[in-house]
Amino acid sequence: MKVCCNPLHSSRRMMWSIGIGGYFRSKFMVMGLVIVSLGALFYSVEYTNSMVMQTSFNHKSSPKKKFYANRFHLQRDHLELLGSYAGRNDTVLATDIAIVVEDIQSIVRILKNISNTKSHVTEKVVSKSISYISGYETSIPDGYINRKEDEKYFKQNWNVPEVSCRNIFDGNETELKKAEDIAKKTQNATLTESDYIKLTEDCEKFRKERGYIMSPLTYMEENFPIAFSLLLFKDVGQAERLLRAVYRPQNIYCVHVDQKSPDDVKKAVQGISSCFDNIFLTPISFDVQWGTMTVLEPELLCMKELWEKSKKWKYFINLTGQEFPLKTNYELVQILQAYDGANDIEGTIIRANNERWQNAGTPPHNITATKGSVHVTVNRDFVDYVINNPIAQDFLNWTRNVDFPDETFFTSLNHNPQLGIRGSYKGEPETDPVLKPFLTRFKNWGEGIFDWPCRGMRVRYICVFGVGDLPLLYSRPELFANKFYWNYQRFALDCMEELMYNRTRDEFLGKLTFDPTFYRNLGFVKNKIS
Ligand SMILES: *[C@@H]1O[C@H](CO)[C@@H](O)[C@H](O)[C@H]1NC(C)=O
Ligand SMILES: *[C@@H]1O[C@H](CO)[C@@H](O)[C@H](O)[C@H]1NC(C)=O
Ligand SMILES: *[C@@H]1O[C@H](CO)[C@@H](O)[C@H](O)[C@H]1NC(C)=O
Ligand SMILES: *[C@@H]1O[C@H](CO)[C@@H](O)[C@H](O)[C@H]1NC(C)=O
Ligand SMILES: *[C@@H]1O[C@H](CO)[C@@H](O)[C@H](O)[C@H]1NC(C)=O
Ligand SMILES: *[C@@H]1O[C@H](CO)[C@@H](O)[C@H](O)[C@H]1NC(C)=O
Ligand SMILES: *[C@@H]1O[C@H](CO)[C@@H](O)[C@H](O)[C@H]1NC(C)=O
Ligand SMILES: *[C@@H]1O[C@H](CO)[C@@H](O)[C@H](O)[C@H]1NC(C)=O
Repeated sequence: MKVCCNPLHSSRRMMWSIGIGGYFRSKFMVMGLVIVSLGALFYSVEYTNSMVMQTSFNHKSSPKKKFYANRFHLQRDHLELLGSYAGRNDTVLATDIAIVVEDIQSIVRILKNISNTKSHVTEKVVSKSISYISGYETSIPDGYINRKEDEKYFKQNWNVPEVSCRNIFDGNETELKKAEDIAKKTQNATLTESDYIKLTEDCEKFRKERGYIMSPLTYMEENFPIAFSLLLFKDVGQAERLLRAVYRPQNIYCVHVDQKSPDDVKKAVQGISSCFDNIFLTPISFDVQWGTMTVLEPELLCMKELWEKSKKWKYFINLTGQEFPLKTNYELVQILQAYDGANDIEGTIIRANNERWQNAGTPPHNITATKGSVHVTVNRDFVDYVINNPIAQDFLNWTRNVDFPDETFFTSLNHNPQLGIRGSYKGEPETDPVLKPFLTRFKNWGEGIFDWPCRGMRVRYICVFGVGDLPLLYSRPELFANKFYWNYQRFALDCMEELMYNRTRDEFLGKLTFDPTFYRNLGFVKNKIS
């Protein structure tokens, strides 16, 4: 637990140490507060407005926040500048550490004390800080807001040139028809594997030209890293667009490239991963065969690698190259915080064809097998259980003998509450639009509760989205959508990119808010093992 070393140097590191402080509660409250106030202190030396930013990593609402906001008479503009800890509507979201800053006088006292004991913090810096804190009500000097420099990410115009995505999302049939026609007639433009191999020789240029966001953007996101696995086989261009859409420096990404993939696919992905500290390839590649254990293996490997490489991430989400987010990282973080540890894994007993389990005999440890989607959103402890718990190992061993092990393993763990896995579901393991919706993926199977009109084309039941599906996608509450083909009605993916870019920008600028209430009240969130 280090309270930072050279605070004048690295604001990032500073925030991190504040983060540690923020996690201590009750027993360590006092200690946490001290650390936090020192953190705030150091930080405030550099960015004086930070007194507000370091509030809290407990995102549950609290009456203090209102008090806090009122006390400093924060204006909407200030809140926007202060970023994610401030609600965009004049309410400060953050909470418990507010106590620290409640009392300006004590901060001032500590600041003064520091200037007496630490030679590198000069009297001048301290008095400047104090004046900024005191003058907080009226002014925030722009130069002290480090978020300002992030505005560069939103200067570029990523609008699709040929059509108005806005009109398409709004369901304008004329525009839609136009997009379908253009897509039919014009080239499918994308970067090829060899383009990536070449481009990634100069990483800085690559990141810049491809518009990667190399900042967490908000403090809330910085303190809530997400781990992703990405399984791909071909079409690096499309997978890279997905990666770029979900990329943030605080997150972590494990990529598995199929053993069967051509060499240039492997090289291209290697090139991309070499340009980022937090994107890595699995040390071995499996030859993935549908319906067998090999579908599960890369995923387990990724979980293990992600687990070992970083202790910070809070949730794990698995992706394939043909998916695309329906939510920005900013929104994802708020949704996952609203989940409060709940896992979102689909499951059913009723819809399961039991013969898939017959070969394997009775599952060990009294586990009732369920069938479910392979897409998961799970908390860190779930991943811990999967890779480290002996019961999970036994059960995994059992799934080796079932058909479609990947559709059995994760879902069964999540629907056997007697195992006590954090975030698993205590109710009936049946997907239900109200009680237990499945929000990890929007997937249009054309069947039962997963049936929507498909304006694209159906490939093995699943709707490959066309331009005409965009209005529906726009309104969906799910986290990601499956599936897109880059070379089928290309504006479907192009417009999704534009939309996510816009939303990220508008949220950053405080022009758009996100309300996670719907997610907080879900049945699987309320009825979970905590
Ligand atoms: C502001 O946002 C908070 C949190 O999202 C919400 O609880 C509150 O009701 C909102 N206040 C107003 C005035 O809209
Ligand atoms: C000032 O710092 C010293 C040593 O760091 C500490 O013992 C003392 O309690 C501090 N005083 C105040 C008012 O914080
Ligand atoms: C994205 O933002 C740009 C610039 O404000 C706007 O022209 C465009 O219509 C927006 N696109 C969507 C899909 O909202
Ligand atoms: C629909 O899009 C067309 C262009 O494709 C535009 O001329 C028309 O004004 C749009 N209609 C509405 C209602 O926005
Ligand atoms: C785009 O690619 C798809 C699949 O390869 C092909 O069917 C389609 O004709 C292509 N479209 C154009 C306009 O080149
Ligand atoms: C298995 O579950 C049944 C019924 O829920 C219970 O009676 C039995 O004791 C359990 N067996 C073990 C080994 O946990
Ligand atoms: C993630 O997705 C892949 C492919 O859809 C699937 O095979 C795998 O089992 C999934 N992983 C998890 C953890 O569910
Ligand atoms: C895995 O299951 C097989 C039977 O299917 C059994 O022989 C073997 O001992 C089990 N291995 C472990 C590690 O439990």
